[in-house]
Amino acid sequence: MTILVTGGAGYIGSHTCIELLNNDYNVVVVDNLYNSSKKALDRVKEITGKDLKFYKGDILDKDCLEKIFKENDIDCVIHFAGLKAVGESVGKPWEYYNNNITGSLNLIEAMKNAGCKNLIFSSSATVYGDPAQIPITEECPKGKCTNPYGWTKWMLEQIFTDMHTADPDWNVILLRYFNPIGAHPSGLIGEDPNGIPNNLMPYITQVAIGKLPELGIFGNDYDTPDGTCVRDYIHVCDLATGHVAALKKIKENCGVSIYNLGTGVGYSVLDVVNNFIEATGVNVPYSFKPRREGDVPQCYSSADKAKRELGWEAKYGIKEMCRDSWNWQQKNPDGFGEAESL
Ligand code: NAD
Ligand code: UD1
Repeated sequence: MTILVTGGAGYIGSHTCIELLNNDYNVVVVDNLYNSSKKALDRVKEITGKDLKFYKGDILDKDCLEKIFKENDIDCVIHFAGLKAVGESVGKPWEYYNNNITGSLNLIEAMKNAGCKNLIFSSSATVYGDPAQIPITEECPKGKCTNPYGWTKWMLEQIFTDMHTADPDWNVILLRYFNPIGAHPSGLIGEDPNGIPNNLMPYITQVAIGKLPELGIFGNDYDTPDGTCVRDYIHVCDLATGHVAALKKIKENCGVSIYNLGTGVGYSVLDVVNNFIEATGVNVPYSFKPRREGDVPQCYSSADKAKRELGWEAKYGIKEMCRDSWNWQQKNPDGFGEAESL
């Protein structure tokens, strides 16, 4: 089976490529390297001892997509490519809607033309907005997003669902990721944020290595056990195996299926900091700051449906997530080096 992985050089995409190769899938990657480096794919090959096919290309470029489908017999697409910086999306809505929505419309047009109707999409727990219930099941209604990035996920879920409604031959799996952290245990690939990180774990590792002076914890007066926000952190390697499980499901002509990919366990910001210190022996100075706009107090999954229907569950615990994030940061203090710009 041949899988087209859009955005396969990125953080989650590169870890997923490893799992795909280890499970003997043929892998074709398209990535414009806007937020990633080709080095990640070289390291995927190094880790697996297997090859993959790489197209440096943009999903906004219809000709590029047509060429890829002409040159390869693609059975299924795993669609990671997209812009993902929440704060940036507020100031650049056009860029986010254009890249994420137009790019995805181009992709499904190329898929349609090629007769490939199997799609696994990287969605996010952000579509639940301020969740109606905790833990969040897939039946929980979609909520109001707080930023254009979130809306692109919300809208794309609807667009892909409508494709199936119009033509039931389409199989669409919407994977709603909770908070991916960690890195491949080899320390060869991991998350490489541009500039000062917005997300918690890369911020912690950069404080730990001395690049940033201290962590600001956004809010300690939430209605949670220790007053800091609670999230469902999941090891990126677990997320990767979730995609292989989804591929097996899509072969059963599953129609539209939605799965949370989380651990089902919530950790507060302070829990994460304390686990990081215990797992690594490295101190992380912090101070409390005002709440960050748009944050919800608690967001963690019910992971039951993925276990029941995909036979998948997360294996790594919070200490391993901290250990592997730190291992990657230590071995690659400057990430992969300069990513290419558009
Ligand atoms: P990432 O930025 O590391 O990976 C995305 C990849 O897509 C990058 O390599 C980038 O260069 C590529 N890309 C972007 N626009 C493109 C375009 N027009 N054409 C071709 N390639 C393009 O992000 P990630 O963390 O690996 O996330 C992967 C997917 O999962 C994204 O869709 C993201 O929104 C989603 N997601 C991520 C998280 C998270 O916390 N990391 C959470 C929920 C959902
Ligand atoms: C954020 C996005 C979400 C996106 C996800 C993955 C927002 C509001 N939500 O989720 O849409 O899918 O990233 O990219 O941006 N924290 C600190 N100090 C920091 C950084 C974070 O205290 O320097 C706290 C936050 O307040 C939050 C927790 O750590 O409570 C996790 O934050 P983060 O890693 O940014 O993820 P989310 O906000 O859950």
